[in-house]
Amino acid sequence: MKGQEWYQADDVAEEYDEKRFSKGGRLIDRREKQAVLDALGPVEDKRVLEIACGTGRFTAMLAERGADIVGLDISGPMLKQGRERAQSAGVADHLEYMRGDAGRLPFPDDHFDAVFAMRFFHLADTPEAFLEEMCRVSSEQVFFDTFNGFSTRTIYNWALPMGSRLYSEQEVHGLLDTAGLRLVSAEHDWVFPYGLYREIPNQVASALRRVDGGIRKLPGGNRLASVSYWNARL
Ligand SMILES: C[S@@+](CC[C@H](N)C(=O)[O-])C[C@H]1O[C@@H](n2cnc3c(N)ncnc32)[C@H](O)[C@@H]1O
Repeated sequence: MKGQEWYQADDVAEEYDEKRFSKGGRLIDRREKQAVLDALGPVEDKRVLEIACGTGRFTAMLAERGADIVGLDISGPMLKQGRERAQSAGVADHLEYMRGDAGRLPFPDDHFDAVFAMRFFHLADTPEAFLEEMCRVSSEQVFFDTFNGFSTRTIYNWALPMGSRLYSEQEVHGLLDTAGLRLVSAEHDWVFPYGLYREIPNQVASALRRVDGGIRKLPGGNRLASVSYWNARL
């Protein structure tokens, strides 16, 4: 499992949000949150599990909206950040964080209405096994994102500390089929890589984002997207 060790370090966990979601990275955080909200729809009283929840960006957001949510992650330091976030957002009593392995979820079959994972499948050596486990504990919906092979991400993927698994569209369709999932919707975004956005000031990033959107609107533009969001039903 790529990155399982990496995210156990206190300094990595402490810097996680600041490194990725400040400057132009704010646009990424906003877009990812929107992708989760669009996919899950109204969440009030919905039983939701987020696997690999990290510092709880989405867990806290969904708790604020009334979801009955559990955030699970294998890293204690990442969860510590999540607990601090929940405390400052005033939702600590409205969510549950658990330390655990997404490959062996400590829940019975069909326990949740929806199970989702963001920025997780690029770390997975055996995505089919994780997807199977997500399906087992969900009664309705599974949502996740992938980083795409045919994209600008390949330019710097090799330089990332733990590398990352890049997917083709066919591969994801194969994974969904194997898991018995029916694709409801897919969105493809970010022609320019996340790594570039997070290095530049927000204003410059906003201009780049407009160019990004323009490219994606061109015929075949979506094929250049570096990220895909997959919304599936059982
Ligand atoms: C890139 S971070 C993403 C965190 C969060 N989903 C987000 O988008 O901000 C990947 C997370 O996956 C967690 N992780 C890695 N392997 C895991 C496993 N087998 N089970 C549960 N969590 C795992 C790491 O600890 C880390 O918090």
